[in-house]
Amino acid sequence: AMESGVAKYVITDWDAYNLELQERIGIDQRLMLRVVTRAKKDPKRVVFAEADNVKILKAAQILRDERVAIPILLGRKEKIDEIIEANKLDLSGVTIVDPYEDEERLRRFGNILFEKRKRKGLTPQDCYRLMKDRNYFGSMMVELGEADALISGLTKDYPKTILPALHVIGVKKGIDRVAGMYIMNTDRGPFFFSDTTVNVNPTAEQLVEIIGLTAEGVKFFDIEPKIAVLSYSNFGSAKGEVAAKTAKATALAKAKYPNLIIEGEMQANVALNEEIQEENYPFSALIGNKANTLIFPDLSSGNIAYKLLSELGHAEAIGPVLLGMNKPVHILQLGSSIREIVNMVAIAVVDAQMKEKL
Ligand code: ACO
Repeated sequence: AMESGVAKYVITDWDAYNLELQERIGIDQRLMLRVVTRAKKDPKRVVFAEADNVKILKAAQILRDERVAIPILLGRKEKIDEIIEANKLDLSGVTIVDPYEDEERLRRFGNILFEKRKRKGLTPQDCYRLMKDRNYFGSMMVELGEADALISGLTKDYPKTILPALHVIGVKKGIDRVAGMYIMNTDRGPFFFSDTTVNVNPTAEQLVEIIGLTAEGVKFFDIEPKIAVLSYSNFGSAKGEVAAKTAKATALAKAKYPNLIIEGEMQANVALNEEIQEENYPFSALIGNKANTLIFPDLSSGNIAYKLLSELGHAEAIGPVLLGMNKPVHILQLGSSIREIVNMVAIAVVDAQMKEKL
């Protein structure tokens, strides 16, 4: 049953672009298959902040039919019903929450936000009004256990989507940064890129935190992280702020996480080519270990690298997986495909299963 279920979403006629991608690249689907299989064992309630969108509703249809998740649709009910009808979807039995008609929740959620943010310059009226933003409303549903995970970001830029979640749900205890990781599924296997979405210019200390979060994120996929801290410099070969920062981050991270394989600072081609390392840097911890996790010095390099690879390379980008939030929240890349949405929801469900166990 699992086989047929998964096949249906991997090759769906709703998503010609993805079908083409799959055929052209022929990348290995096992990583996501494992996640989907885990998700189906205990589907969780996933609230979609942008349910008045046809791609979201088509993804919800697949997720419900394949029992990967229990969708909760957030948005104006008439508009959602209209799109369902126009696209001949069948989402009967799926809960629709219309925040604009839900005075009880708007007030209750507003009061809770006020308690959280009253010393951050917000009045009760501000909080009530903010709850009409579905990213606040949806985050609050997750915060209060009325949903298990939030998916948003398809139609709004990233900062506007992540801030409400940071305000309502916040980061995990003991951490002060969140970060975004992409899985680049390539014909050389999966590679994990981080931080590709959140921290504009992290300090060395913040990079150490990003390395720790990313290592956990890679283990989430049952893969052992082998981490390269990237730079334009190889082990002190070049000067400059970024070279110094990445060298320092590598040293601090090696000390803080002695059980992880971490090497750097190094250029991307060196990280991915063990011959160059053997010849020039025989001390590299990545020799014989095949780097699979790339840590970028800043947001420009991480974001540009993954986007270039997904447009020009033989790779499928899965993510961004938001790391370090206190509850499962995942923010889609603007304009994600149905396939990308389905993948992210499967990840969010497994994330919720694991957070529940803790
Ligand atoms: N991790 C955890 N918490 C954070 C982080 C972080 N990285 N950044 C900010 N916060 C917290 C702050 O501590 C603050 O908490 P508080 O209000 O309780 O004191 C709260 O979030 C809001 O802080 P602000 O200073 O208002 O937020 P800021 O202006 O720093 O914005 C944001 C944070 C939105 C994440 C910002 O850093 C940003 O815009 N990053 C770039 C995002 C982006 O555009 N990415 C590229 C596109 S993504 C893609 O391509 C898929």
